[in-house]
Amino acid sequence: MSQRYHNPVAIRLGAGVIAELPAVLAGRRCILVTFPEAESLGLVARLRGILGAQLAGVEDQIEPNPDVASLAPMYARFWHDHADCPAVVAVGGGSAIDTAKALMVGTDNGRFDELIAQLTTGAVFTPPRVKSLVAVPTTAGTGSEVTPWATIWDRAAGKKHSLHLRETWPETALVDPQLMLTLPRAVTLQSALDALSHALEAIWNVNANPVSDVFAVAAAREVLATLPELLAAPGDLALRTRMATAALHAGLAFSNTKTALAHSISYEMTLRFGLPHGIACSFTLPMVLQRAIGVDPGRDAVLARVFDGPLADAPAQLSAFLARLGVATDFAAYGVAAADSQRMVTEAMGGVRGKNFIGAGRPA
Ligand SMILES: NC(=O)c1ccc[n+]([C@@H]2O[C@H](COP(=O)([O-])OP(=O)(O)OC[C@H]3O[C@@H](n4cnc5c(N)ncnc54)[C@H](O)[C@@H]3O)[C@@H](O)[C@H]2O)c1
Ligand SMILES: [Zn+2]
Repeated sequence: MSQRYHNPVAIRLGAGVIAELPAVLAGRRCILVTFPEAESLGLVARLRGILGAQLAGVEDQIEPNPDVASLAPMYARFWHDHADCPAVVAVGGGSAIDTAKALMVGTDNGRFDELIAQLTTGAVFTPPRVKSLVAVPTTAGTGSEVTPWATIWDRAAGKKHSLHLRETWPETALVDPQLMLTLPRAVTLQSALDALSHALEAIWNVNANPVSDVFAVAAAREVLATLPELLAAPGDLALRTRMATAALHAGLAFSNTKTALAHSISYEMTLRFGLPHGIACSFTLPMVLQRAIGVDPGRDAVLARVFDGPLADAPAQLSAFLARLGVATDFAAYGVAAADSQRMVTEAMGGVRGKNFIGAGRPA
């Protein structure tokens, strides 16, 4: 069978590129979906200035890890107020971009529960109405600007939904590292580790291909090289640019492979222990790497391009890297007992994402 790679998102990258929004929208009106701090940071005012009369509305009460409980009323109001507006501009981290992806898919009756009911069936469907999405990431991590996926959490029910339609690919990604200069240290760290996880998960993945491998290796090497420097100099635009590019590359890699075991484990860690996504999907990376090595010589060769020195030393190298950043790599540090963690890994291996892991068929 042929190897395939496909990503339809137009990308504009560079400091100040947000000024190109009017050109990208080409006369269309839009609704801005953004994070709450965007107002006090002056970002909303700046966007009002850039967009002028093209800006039809602002949704800025986007909570981290968008949940059905808050999305439902926002969705109803959004479709009531803006049914005719053709575009959504999401400016924020993965939470804002994923929220925009949920909002852009219109149901017949304008109610969110209809969309959730549709997602619960697991069947692919064509939404009756949909808006275009321009994604402007302000974190360097999720890659959501170049993927069609959105994670919708349901904390009350202890589960999550994955939205993924042909219509939820962003039309354009505007990656402007200048917008990332205001990121707090914790978010800089978490989102970069999310990107590292996307890159490695795209390599130890049954869906990997030579194109995703190039993006994944470049991304993983860049995060490993840049993150300690960036944490020491968070105001450095050149380092922010390197990290933004690495996260974009990781997004391009896993936009075709999807994620694997580390992400499969992460969902329970976030739902049960409230661990931020970037930590939840990265603290197990050394353990998953250990399991990946030796499964397939072709995958070993790609992993060897990421780590310097013998591949057998890579898991310890990665553990030491995370420890230096203050990220513990054992379940016990997060309050998970040994037996519970064993069960978690086994269950995650059988999950939708876990099955993408090259070592999924092997004993735990
Ligand atoms: N769709 C995908 O492919 C994909 C991939 C990975 C993760 N995700 C999802 O993304 C979410 C996590 O996204 P994230 O890590 O980008 O964090 P986030 O969007 O939750 O943002 C984290 C915090 O940083 C703030 N913030 C964002 N940008 C800022 C800036 N420039 N300056 C100051 N503060 C800023 C936010 O308001 C928030 O409080 C999770 O819900 C996860 O499930 C989606
Ligand atoms: Zn992730």
